[in-house]
Amino acid sequence: MARRDRYRPPADLAVGQSAYNRYRGLIDDWARFCSVLQQPLTPCVRANTARLSRDELAALLRQDGLDPQPLSWHPDALLVYGGFRPGRHWGAIAGLYQIQEAASLLPAQLLDPRPGDRVLDLCAAPGNKTVQMADALGGRGTVVANDANRGRLGALAQAVKRHGIVNVTQTVRDGQGMPWAAGRFDKVLVDAPCSCEGTFRKTATAAEETSPAFRERLVRKQQRLLRRGMALTRPGGCVVYSTCTFAPEENEAVVAAALAAEGDFELLPARLEGIYLEPGLTEWDGAAYGAAMARCGRLWPHHNDTGGFFLAVLRRRSGGAGEPDPEPLAPDPRAQTLLRVFRDELGVPDSVLAGLTPFFEGRKYAKIAASDHGGAGGVPAERTGIPAVRAQTRPPKPSTAGAMALGPHARGPFLDLTPAETEAFFRREPIHPGPERAPAAPEGGHVLLRLRGYTLGIGIRRGGAVASLFPKAWSEAALGGP
Ligand SMILES: C[S@@+](CC[C@H](N)C(=O)[O-])C[C@H]1O[C@@H](n2cnc3c(N)ncnc32)[C@H](O)[C@@H]1O
Repeated sequence: MARRDRYRPPADLAVGQSAYNRYRGLIDDWARFCSVLQQPLTPCVRANTARLSRDELAALLRQDGLDPQPLSWHPDALLVYGGFRPGRHWGAIAGLYQIQEAASLLPAQLLDPRPGDRVLDLCAAPGNKTVQMADALGGRGTVVANDANRGRLGALAQAVKRHGIVNVTQTVRDGQGMPWAAGRFDKVLVDAPCSCEGTFRKTATAAEETSPAFRERLVRKQQRLLRRGMALTRPGGCVVYSTCTFAPEENEAVVAAALAAEGDFELLPARLEGIYLEPGLTEWDGAAYGAAMARCGRLWPHHNDTGGFFLAVLRRRSGGAGEPDPEPLAPDPRAQTLLRVFRDELGVPDSVLAGLTPFFEGRKYAKIAASDHGGAGGVPAERTGIPAVRAQTRPPKPSTAGAMALGPHARGPFLDLTPAETEAFFRREPIHPGPERAPAAPEGGHVLLRLRGYTLGIGIRRGGAVASLFPKAWSEAALGGP
């Protein structure tokens, strides 16, 4: 089984000769900056609040012998000490949390999407911030998650299923020319491709000097991405531009140029309670960026024990009514019939199902999206919502993603698994609960399988046993152990 690469501290960072040397004059405590870069980051997770609160997640991790501590700048995030391997813990399989670097929570936090906002994530893959913003909308409405790289969106497709996210449509477009047909947005995140100088603690590979030619190409792209993001923003709406790099050419210079070109925008202070962000640069190396750039935020790793980030919040001044949102997706009658398996077999109330639009995207699954989800307007979707019911089997089978999303609302039948049974379930082996724990499902009926009260997936009653319907593709990730 392939093991996830683990952080290896570099034997010699050679910071004096590294890419960071050009920023020496900007860094208040060079020795501390160098020393912090040599230390690995503490794992950080954000609770999936549709399933549990941060306190409930902390209690659960504590029971597993770990030491979770609240992150000071995000109400749902925890730093977890004590040898936590977040990708291997069963909570990741159950979609109880999103693994997200503490610094990378900031862009979406500053954008502050609220229920009712239409949101665009222009450079979305692998999708951590998309998931964060979809949660911030309370699982309703619309996030359009776009990336130019179709392959990199695969990770988002997985996260969406595990988290039960029904308000995201994915598109594959060059964001520099994101079509106008996508419509206008209240909130736009441009988390741009960059030279990644701030990710050294994660990868230990980013300290190489960026060539001027490569940087120039990046900057041109960053400018076009930001300007297109701004152009797609409604009056009164906001854009956050973020990078995980220190280079002023990719940061303040890009924002200053876009502001000058688009005119109708103002910079808001990129500041948050619980974290120290240094003001953006007003000049550097002979280039003047303007006094307003001090409102941008610079996150240096040694100030808050994080990676590095740059953040700018731009608001389109009001004026004009903007355009109406695209119409919500239309329900498909056959998909609607298939979705009733959740009501008829698993006791999910009609009131919950009424908040979802069943539809087809291909023929294999009836999918679900939030009933007010409007998709990407006239831009063809790569994927929308989550698969809920396998349509081509007889009888139709609830999917694992559907079971995890709707399980918290279900009345059962349930089977609460022991840790050993959980391993067997992940190995796709039958579970033999014995007559006293046998779930109240008829022969051939579906059963929701849970660990410590959280739905892990679906099984089917066969004789005295419950057959595991855990997806083959998820099995390997699930069997790594905590
Ligand atoms: C910093 S990463 C985004 C990380 C992501 N927001 C997250 O939080 O998981 C930058 C992304 O920009 C994408 N990208 C590069 N050029 C692009 C373009 N022209 N249009 C849209 N996306 C692009 C890359 O494929 C990459 O996934």
